[in-house]
Amino acid sequence: MRNIDRFFCLTLTVCLTAGAAKAQKRTIDQRVDSLLRLMTLEEKVGQLNQYSGKDVTGPVNANNTNQLNDISKGLVGSMLNVRGVKDTRQIQAVALRSRLKIPLLFSMDVIHGYRTVFPIPLAEAASWDMEAIRSSAHIAAKEAAAVGLHWTFAPMVDVGRDPRWGRVMEGAGEDTYLGSMIATARVKGFQGEKLGGTDAVMACAKHFAAYGAAMAGRDYNAVDMSDNMLWQTYLPPFKAAADAGVATFMNSFNTLNGIPATGNSYLQRDILKGKWGYKGFVVSDWGSIGEMVAWGYAANNEDAATKAIIAGSDMDMESKAYIGHLTQLVKDKKVDVKLVDDAVRRILRKKFELGLFEDPYRFSNEAREREVLNDPQHKLIARDVAQRSIVLLKNQNELLPLAKSGKTIAVIGPLAKSKRDLEGNWIPLSDTTRVTSLYEGLQSTDGKNRYLYAKGTDIMGREDAFEEAIATAKKADVVVMALGESWDMSGEAKSRADISLPGRQTELFNAISATGKPIVVVLMAGRPLIFEDIANKAQSVVYAWWLGAEGGNAIANVLFGDYNPSGKLPVTFPRSVGQIPLSYAGYSTGRPVKNPRDIKYKSAYIDLPNTPKYAFGHGLSYTTFKYGNLKISDTKIKKNQVLQVSFDLSNTGKYSGEEVVQLYLQDPIASVARPLKELKDFQKVMLKAGETKTITFKIDSDKLSFYDPQMKWVAEPGNFNIMIGSASDDIRLNSSFELTDK
Ligand code: BGC
Repeated sequence: MRNIDRFFCLTLTVCLTAGAAKAQKRTIDQRVDSLLRLMTLEEKVGQLNQYSGKDVTGPVNANNTNQLNDISKGLVGSMLNVRGVKDTRQIQAVALRSRLKIPLLFSMDVIHGYRTVFPIPLAEAASWDMEAIRSSAHIAAKEAAAVGLHWTFAPMVDVGRDPRWGRVMEGAGEDTYLGSMIATARVKGFQGEKLGGTDAVMACAKHFAAYGAAMAGRDYNAVDMSDNMLWQTYLPPFKAAADAGVATFMNSFNTLNGIPATGNSYLQRDILKGKWGYKGFVVSDWGSIGEMVAWGYAANNEDAATKAIIAGSDMDMESKAYIGHLTQLVKDKKVDVKLVDDAVRRILRKKFELGLFEDPYRFSNEAREREVLNDPQHKLIARDVAQRSIVLLKNQNELLPLAKSGKTIAVIGPLAKSKRDLEGNWIPLSDTTRVTSLYEGLQSTDGKNRYLYAKGTDIMGREDAFEEAIATAKKADVVVMALGESWDMSGEAKSRADISLPGRQTELFNAISATGKPIVVVLMAGRPLIFEDIANKAQSVVYAWWLGAEGGNAIANVLFGDYNPSGKLPVTFPRSVGQIPLSYAGYSTGRPVKNPRDIKYKSAYIDLPNTPKYAFGHGLSYTTFKYGNLKISDTKIKKNQVLQVSFDLSNTGKYSGEEVVQLYLQDPIASVARPLKELKDFQKVMLKAGETKTITFKIDSDKLSFYDPQMKWVAEPGNFNIMIGSASDDIRLNSSFELTDK
């Protein structure tokens, strides 16, 4: 075909596709409108009502006649926690007995896998690998969509800078830029090509907004935050999710500057549905409409319903405030029916987009359920993602990788044979028969070594057998210690005031360390922990989070060097709880510490350095990387120009490996004091031993912009510093340039 013909065909196809999409969209909107015209006020309010079917799953109508009655009358729009082809079919059938036969939406927290358990989201964030993260979410979506689910309450895109807060495990860590990239990857993974595919479920960006900044790291607590911090740091991952087409949002339990997020018009009406023009719907968090009463913001459930619908909460999860009061509130003219209509339209639109009106059972197919849940590929991908999520924190004298050479390895600690803990918190189905423990992973990865085992202590220190563990260590050439948190020590309502290693695990480590044997410590946890003795005395420290069902195999691959670790911390590891919140993106202060030995009247602690134990972006490899030959395309750019920064990255070690190269920028003088550095780009680069590649970053004015005192998004003229490195505290290349006025 001649080029011109090809161009014509392409243009025509694009036009036809765009036209078809428009026609289809018009059709959906028209269909929503005609359905809305048929609905009674009660039926409209019903669409805004979501019940939990925790006790509906199982024998369907046993004790749930009320819920089922409501469903059959068209008074329920969605059920959460009902899953499985059998149950979803049965309950959908009840919805189809209602007058207008509007199908239900089935939803659940599918946070890191449905049947195949993937690493917890914080672990996956440590991979800095967007394709791995996308594919993890996509497999979770495929499995969820095969068991009748339409909707997952993920991704959690809250920026988390307080490791006491249990929900850090569920997010992407502390950084706005990395968090925004991950939000996009997860939304694309869950929602696939487009809603309606049987490999896609609706995603939900939660918790809108600022939940990650709950005071003192205590779950459900208040948040007090400047607009500057909100817009600059906490909102961008939500905006990224909205831009990626996320079908739904969930609001949050916290107040924001005194107003509960659920009743917050500024967040939901002005920002989300106003400025961002968001067309999906907002579900409340579990009972968060009703909780506005306990907050002291609403007098009773009726008042809470009024405030929530006015503020833009579209669906009521389990407060029963809408179903209980909205109809009367509209009849009494206390709530404008237009608000109800808008919320219903948003919800119905999604039901049409999912194709539920064509076939309400299309996600509930037994053959697909069997086939997808047993797809052997999923396990392999889970292992690959798990490997990529592991962070090598320390590797003295290159103790790792371990040789596969007939040595005796003592595997010691409460997590060595644990399976349930590897799955982590927030899983829809625990099935430890599908989990490989670290001990099993080591054995199957290398059968030549001899393995000994001793538990030594349990996680909480209620029982211990130190003597046996010491004796076991003495018989070995090298000791692998598996220590950390149990699966239920981080997650929702799992905040800890003390984030050190629980129980007597540090004592156990010290006892084993006293034998003089070389020790590799593998830490498994749902947050950054504090482990000073281990960090200082163990030869090697591997941070393995909660890696999911394939965790044991993934860790073994790293310990034996079958996979060269490439993870980097997505969150700062403090030295002490007293430093929290601690982020690499902090500020200079008027009295910065320039020399750690001179802290008199400086912004410092008298008993600890300001620096973290392990910085954001830190993570070692078995090989080494050299950064050099930095070039910038200009020393001055105008606002509409793009600066190119390039440098050579060389693998100077013995192993092939991946490096995450990180670009940080600083605006040293601005109308609002800016952080000392901010991540603005990164690339994960694979290099063979001895190989060199030229890496290029592009800096446009968006990367230089921030919210000024008038809350305008601006790039202010002046100098900017460029820092490129292997971690936020390991900058290898520096440069600067000027942004000129015009
Ligand atoms: C959590 C949400 C979750 C919801 C439904 C709430 O308690 O905060 O993240 O999606 O429950 O299970």
